[in-house]
Amino acid sequence: MTNHFINLVGVGAAQMPGTELVFLEIIKDFDLIIEIGTDNGGLALWLYLNKRADAAFYTYEKEPTHVKIPKNHEINSHIVYCDCLTEDTIDSISALIKSSGKTLFLCDGGAKIIEFGVFSKFLKYGDVIVLHDFADSPNETQNYADAKAKLLKDGLWDGCGFEVHEASYNSIEDDVISAGLVKYNYNKFLGVLWGCFIKL
Ligand SMILES: C[S@@+](CC[C@H](N)C(=O)[O-])C[C@H]1O[C@@H](n2cnc3c(N)ncnc32)[C@H](O)[C@@H]1O
Repeated sequence: MTNHFINLVGVGAAQMPGTELVFLEIIKDFDLIIEIGTDNGGLALWLYLNKRADAAFYTYEKEPTHVKIPKNHEINSHIVYCDCLTEDTIDSISALIKSSGKTLFLCDGGAKIIEFGVFSKFLKYGDVIVLHDFADSPNETQNYADAKAKLLKDGLWDGCGFEVHEASYNSIEDDVISAGLVKYNYNKFLGVLWGCFIKL
């Protein structure tokens, strides 16, 4: 049977092998980490366990049944069950970003391009935003296939579930420009199918 998830800190994560190594290079820089799209919770739990001890963390999920983290784990008080794209939630996330220090914002919900457009507007100088299932432009289909093939060459995992990119540089370029973002650690994140941008 194929498996859509790698196992990250004991919980499934819809990520490519090695994703955590790329996030490990920057995670300690941040005072606030927000993830859209908890799903099973493997990446959320990894982020929570690897952030700076004094950093705040929230992960947003609209389908509680998706989360497979044990109910007695302390991370549960950092999981926000709601639709991140409602007006109230957008307002509360915006306020959180404004009132916090350096923020890392992960777009990994059901509409990455929309999440990127909505939340990139609230970033401050030095904040970083990443979006998953991302391919560089032009030739995004080929670029995505090449990055995925490189990750899977060791045959440890079948990569099922990453057949088509959901976002490309072309699809977010207008938001990158209007939010004042520039590419950040770009090639490293591209290698694990994420786009990464910093507000300057
Ligand atoms: C691709 S999965 C997230 C994968 C997870 N970040 C990981 O690394 O394992 C997307 C998740 O986002 C949730 N989702 C989709 N739209 C959402 C929204 N508007 N607000 C909150 N969660 C949403 C889905 O229910 C799903 O569990």
